[in-house]
Amino acid sequence: MSTLRAVVTGGAGFIGSHVADALLAAGYLVVVIDDLSSGSRANVPVGAQFQHLDVRSPEAATLVREGQFDLLVHLAAQMDVRKSVVDPMNDASVNIIGALNLLEAVRASPHRPRVVFTSTGGVIYGDFVEPPNAEVAPKDPESPYAIAKLSVEFYLAYYARVHGLHTIALRLANVFGPRQNPHGEAGVVSIFFQCILAGRALTVFGDGEQTRDYVFVGDVVRAVVAAATRPLPASGRLDERSFNIGTAIPTSVLTLAAALQTTAGSQAPIEFAPKRPGEQERSFVSIEKAARLLGWSPSVSLADGLSQTFDWFRDHIDSSPAPAIPVSSLHK
Ligand SMILES: NC(=O)c1ccc[n+]([C@@H]2O[C@H](COP(=O)([O-])OP(=O)(O)OC[C@H]3O[C@@H](n4cnc5c(N)ncnc54)[C@H](O)[C@@H]3O)[C@@H](O)[C@H]2O)c1
Repeated sequence: MSTLRAVVTGGAGFIGSHVADALLAAGYLVVVIDDLSSGSRANVPVGAQFQHLDVRSPEAATLVREGQFDLLVHLAAQMDVRKSVVDPMNDASVNIIGALNLLEAVRASPHRPRVVFTSTGGVIYGDFVEPPNAEVAPKDPESPYAIAKLSVEFYLAYYARVHGLHTIALRLANVFGPRQNPHGEAGVVSIFFQCILAGRALTVFGDGEQTRDYVFVGDVVRAVVAAATRPLPASGRLDERSFNIGTAIPTSVLTLAAALQTTAGSQAPIEFAPKRPGEQERSFVSIEKAARLLGWSPSVSLADGLSQTFDWFRDHIDSSPAPAIPVSSLHK
């Protein structure tokens, strides 16, 4: 049997580099496309081919069209919610036009690779419906970032229905783990660990009772592999081929801060700052559909995941006092 070929966009980033690791281990030939705007060349696993390209470029489209791939995992994104608010044009350019560039390339490819897209379960549903949110819950994206993710999901449904593409979207909750950076949807884990290591206080906005659904990156990678290999549901309306990937467990910021202190054996003080306008109050997702149709469920507890993550930060982060991390990137 010939070797399966996968192209992973964003493979120099946090989640993408773990996905590339797993696909290599599963025997795929892996090509990583990344412009290194937030990722790092050092994250790209040895054994993967690296292409320093923007997903919006004609070169990236040509590679996807002619690379004879069986699988495209599209993770490359402008993934900072706050930046999307400041510059929605750039967010839409990377997140919508970039995805469309690749989808058109897949449509034109004789090989028609399966497309696995990383959407968001953390910010697509908004605060109007009481969580846990199932995939069919009304969507109420409150940021340009979330609007772009939802837009791409509409395109995926269109390409599946009209052009017969094999598409699937994973709506990731708040992903944490080794190699994460402070800007993603679970950035607070990274920020708090860096504060602990630098001997600084942990800043909590509002009363700290806001909840999020923290899922370990290793579990997300298993979901990507399941999405790449399991039979797809029939194509249809928006939510048909979308799957929430989380834990269905809400964790408040205060609970998270306490768990981080326990993990790190730290007494770092907690400081409270005024609630930030527009911050979502509650967010956690139902994962019943992923269990039923992808055979997936999370396997790493918050405590175990935090322990693995802290070990990584301790080994990789300079613990000398660092400049304060911008307030804008906290607890998305
Ligand atoms: N981290 C989370 O909690 C979370 C939650 C939900 C969804 N997601 C989604 O998962 C995906 C990966 O997120 P992550 O946390 O690993 O972020 P990340 O920033 O670590 O990875 C994104 C990668 O995409 C690359 N990239 C950005 N713009 C590009 C462009 N125009 N062309 C080529 N490469 C480009 C970056 O250099 C980076 O390596 C994103 O699509 C994100 O929206 C993440």
